[in-house]
Amino acid sequence: MTGLALEAINVSKRFGDLQALDRVSLKLKKGGIHALLGENGAGKSTLVKCIVGFYTPDEGEVLLGEHQQLISNPRDAHDLGIGMVYQHFTLVPNMTVLENLVLARPRLPSIIDWNKERMAIAERMKGMPFQLPLDAPVNHLAAGEKQKLEIIKQLLLDVKVLILDEPTSVLTPDEADEVLGQIKDMARRTGLAVLMITHKFREVVLYADDVTVLRRGRYVGSERVGDVSVEKMSEMMVGREFSGTALAREPAADQGVKLAIDALTIEDDSGLPAVSNLSLTVKGGEIVGIAGVSGNGQRELVEALAGQRPTTGGEIRVMGERYRGERQELLRHRFHCLPEEPLRNASVSRMSVAENLGFRCFDRPPHSIGGFLRRRAINAYAQRLIAEFKVSPANTAIPIGNLSGGNVQRAILARELWDQPNVLVVANPCFGLDFTAVAEIHARLMAARNAGAAVLLISEDLDEIIELADRIDVISDGRLVYETTPQAADPIVIGHHMAGHAGEPHAH
Ligand SMILES: Nc1ncnc2c1ncn2[C@@H]1O[C@H](COP(=O)(O)OP(=O)(O)OP(=O)(O)O)[C@@H](O)[C@H]1O
Ligand SMILES: [Mg+2]
Repeated sequence: MTGLALEAINVSKRFGDLQALDRVSLKLKKGGIHALLGENGAGKSTLVKCIVGFYTPDEGEVLLGEHQQLISNPRDAHDLGIGMVYQHFTLVPNMTVLENLVLARPRLPSIIDWNKERMAIAERMKGMPFQLPLDAPVNHLAAGEKQKLEIIKQLLLDVKVLILDEPTSVLTPDEADEVLGQIKDMARRTGLAVLMITHKFREVVLYADDVTVLRRGRYVGSERVGDVSVEKMSEMMVGREFSGTALAREPAADQGVKLAIDALTIEDDSGLPAVSNLSLTVKGGEIVGIAGVSGNGQRELVEALAGQRPTTGGEIRVMGERYRGERQELLRHRFHCLPEEPLRNASVSRMSVAENLGFRCFDRPPHSIGGFLRRRAINAYAQRLIAEFKVSPANTAIPIGNLSGGNVQRAILARELWDQPNVLVVANPCFGLDFTAVAEIHARLMAARNAGAAVLLISEDLDEIIELADRIDVISDGRLVYETTPQAADPIVIGHHMAGHAGEPHAH
């Protein structure tokens, strides 16, 4: 099935002084996957939000299909069959999968016959690329399952154009292959046109048919994926050749154990065990990596370490002292923590960048004297951080929620990596970052380690763990089930343990 599914012509969008999009055009064909590449803040999300009518372009237009129907608001986009999966989840956490699917429909009867809905959806599920338990509450789903649900939610609305904003950021490589492979099949089969924003070249090469690159709000070019190398794509993205930052792993001076977790038990929101009898130690000058598929207790572990979730057994010691997760302890021990989904879990979207960056220190001089917040000091501090971490735009007054996804991540990383932490806990630190930023953050994590921090790196990205960690643990079902070193690490063996299979895999 060929033909044009959608066309964006000379679309421009300005936010205040910032020209987020400057006459960008894009052609989307039926029956394939089109990748949209660009650095953090390049305008990718803004472009797709213009396409779905979430934003009205200042100039240019978006036309759908052979009949060139004009899309000018979300209702049009919806009625004409354009669906979008946003960079951040939009599910209702306290409802079940079924409820989320039914309530996503624009027109609902005033009384919903849930039995009928359940049967209809169960039937249609069979034709979907992946299956989900209809009665599971969404807050019990792992990140990967939530992402699948977001996609199914759109597909059940019979969309002709599916837009995915970084769909695989929350997926493991296996899950990403499954999701993208299935979606590509579906596109081929049904003529569905898919526009996918991603930072992963691997996915572009393996799954996309065409690629368009944006840089600083401008259109750089479109290519057939088969005709263009990864080097060429990265050059188009950043406008120059990229020479990566080499990681300098220095021999660790033994600084003693800075973080000790002993027989820790943590419950999830419904009182079921999320983490069971987990013990580990991290010395100063060492990165311990915890690999695992999301939803195996990582989130609860990080929340407990950040003092945002009670523990039900065991203990945590920081710098040799019993630790209860109180704010004063975090400050006193220089215990820094980056949870997953920082926009939701580590920042207040409507507050300014400066206020968000000041969280860690706003009640200490020079930022606070006699209980008064010293705005100017907070601002100067925030300015330094965002310059250092190249947060763009470099404006501390705007709400942090207005930053692009990757820039929110950079801003929160700036806050947590600053000020020489003793203990640094990071969960999926490079989520949503472009490749230059990934290299930079990896270098910074290594630098924190070399400077003596005890770093606990919790990540779903196995390559990242193997690259950075001094020791590797695998978490499965809330337990550490396997330990190895990066030198001895075999991704297949680790993957096997991540998937919850006890013991060594059988040799073939
Ligand atoms: N609602 C808004 N108000 C003000 N500025 C905005 C708004 N939305 C986006 N911007 C700005 O527009 C620019 C483009 O942002 P956009 O979210 O499109 O980037 P992106 O390419 O999706 O980046 P990322 O890879 O980090 O997600 C950024 O500089 C961002 O700060
Ligand atoms: Mg974005």
